[in-house]
Amino acid sequence: MLWSLLTAFVVAGIHGVATAASTAGPAACVTFDINWNLLAFGFNGKDYNAGTQDTWGSSSPPTDITTQGRPPFDSPNTTCYLAQFFNAIYVLNADNSSPSSIYIYDVAKASWSKQSVDAGTFDPTNFAAILDHDTNVFYSYSGADLFSLDMQSQTAAISSAIPWKEVQKPDLSTDSDGTTTPGANTAGYQPVMALAQNHVHFLGVPGLAAGNAKIFVIHFSFMQPTPQFYGTAFPDTHGKTASFFLDAGVQQEFAFIPDDGSATYVINVESNTTKTLTGPPQQDPFASYSASTSALVQLTPGGQVAFLAYDPNTTTSGGTWATISKLPSALGSASSSGTSSAGGSTPTGNTTSSSSGKNSSSGSPSGSSSGSSNNNSGAVSGVRLGAGIFLAAGMALFGMLAM
Ligand SMILES: *[C@@H]1O[C@H](CO)[C@@H](O)[C@H](O)[C@H]1NC(C)=O
Ligand SMILES: *[C@@H]1O[C@H](CO)[C@@H](O)[C@H](O)[C@H]1NC(C)=O
Ligand SMILES: *[C@@H]1O[C@H](CO)[C@@H](O)[C@H](O)[C@H]1NC(C)=O
Ligand SMILES: *[C@@H]1O[C@H](CO)[C@@H](O)[C@H](O)[C@H]1NC(C)=O
Ligand SMILES: *[C@@H]1O[C@H](CO)[C@@H](O)[C@H](O)[C@H]1NC(C)=O
Repeated sequence: MLWSLLTAFVVAGIHGVATAASTAGPAACVTFDINWNLLAFGFNGKDYNAGTQDTWGSSSPPTDITTQGRPPFDSPNTTCYLAQFFNAIYVLNADNSSPSSIYIYDVAKASWSKQSVDAGTFDPTNFAAILDHDTNVFYSYSGADLFSLDMQSQTAAISSAIPWKEVQKPDLSTDSDGTTTPGANTAGYQPVMALAQNHVHFLGVPGLAAGNAKIFVIHFSFMQPTPQFYGTAFPDTHGKTASFFLDAGVQQEFAFIPDDGSATYVINVESNTTKTLTGPPQQDPFASYSASTSALVQLTPGGQVAFLAYDPNTTTSGGTWATISKLPSALGSASSSGTSSAGGSTPTGNTTSSSSGKNSSSGSPSGSSSGSSNNNSGAVSGVRLGAGIFLAAGMALFGMLAM
């Protein structure tokens, strides 16, 4: 009786670790350089170049590009952005001790620098952002305000802090009467921002008809009063986005993945049409996404990377996601390169829990050297939950042995 009760405790502990739902995004990010090499930052304290798409299924290990000056990758919700004109990567939310700083990776020089930022009223723990292709200016939505931050042509930090400037209180009203009311319909909005054609698209706006977006025109700093319809009734919900690059010129399409992961929508802002592709392999609302010219990549909080091949000219629907097994699991054990499986569908990271199931989100950001507790990290709290149950089970065992 007691033993089976104890067994139940232990099983519950393992299960708790394996299925703890994440509550924040990964302390790692994936993005691309201008030659469409997949760059993976913050994977077990290392950074990798996983090469171009044709090599992702190969068993050759990724190139370790870890070098000095990199961010600690000890904060959840890390995001990174390619400045295509400059072959620079800008990394936000990668340093728990300096949450508003932007780390800059110069791809050509393989060097890091840390740009200090004057955040003003911008909240680095609560925002969505895009990096505009042509102006190299970030636009973000934080606390019902629209902000901008100008990266100029930076491939390295400058000595002075650069500011998040308030642009306007956006009008997110969903009516078509053509009037503008600053701040309208922003209450409670969890921002979903997508970039294409130098326009910021706001999705998941409360009360917006399915298949529509509110549009902010960057070059005129103008919020279009009337929603735009994109031809397919993609749901008006929170989700994640990634813009597909072109080899030259501004992005014309972006992917939208609703939080439930039920589909991947690719919205073309030239033709005003939407393609419905396969949803990602792991349905985690805290997964992050990045896109090249020909692939959409998912990074889960559990550290697994998968991709959906996409050809803007020929892909019309469906598609098959595949795991990028040459990368170690971002938040798993410290095993790194050289452990790839040849199969191409099994994550090679050896996490403390089942890594084959969906929703797996165990493991803490092992790149972190600080012992500071971070109650925003879902991965960390998931482990704590598991450890707590194990501790309870251990104490029960101790108590039984004492009897
Ligand atoms: C991370 O994202 C979650 C969910 O959006 C949010 O609750 C949390 O405050 C964020 N934490 C940080 C450090 O950005
Ligand atoms: C897309 O919609 C915009 C705004 O309604 C319109 O100006 C444009 O002509 C449309 N494009 C096509 C290809 O219909
Ligand atoms: C798609 O078509 C355009 C125009 O023909 C071409 O420039 C581009 O290279 C094509 N893209 C791909 C991925 O083949
Ligand atoms: C994980 O590591 C342990 C110990 O090194 C090993 O026994 C186990 O087979 C590994 N599991 C996977 C899935 O690689
Ligand atoms: C993921 O977890 C959520 C919440 O625990 C659950 O509702 C959902 O069905 C799970 N999805 C999968 C694919 O397991």
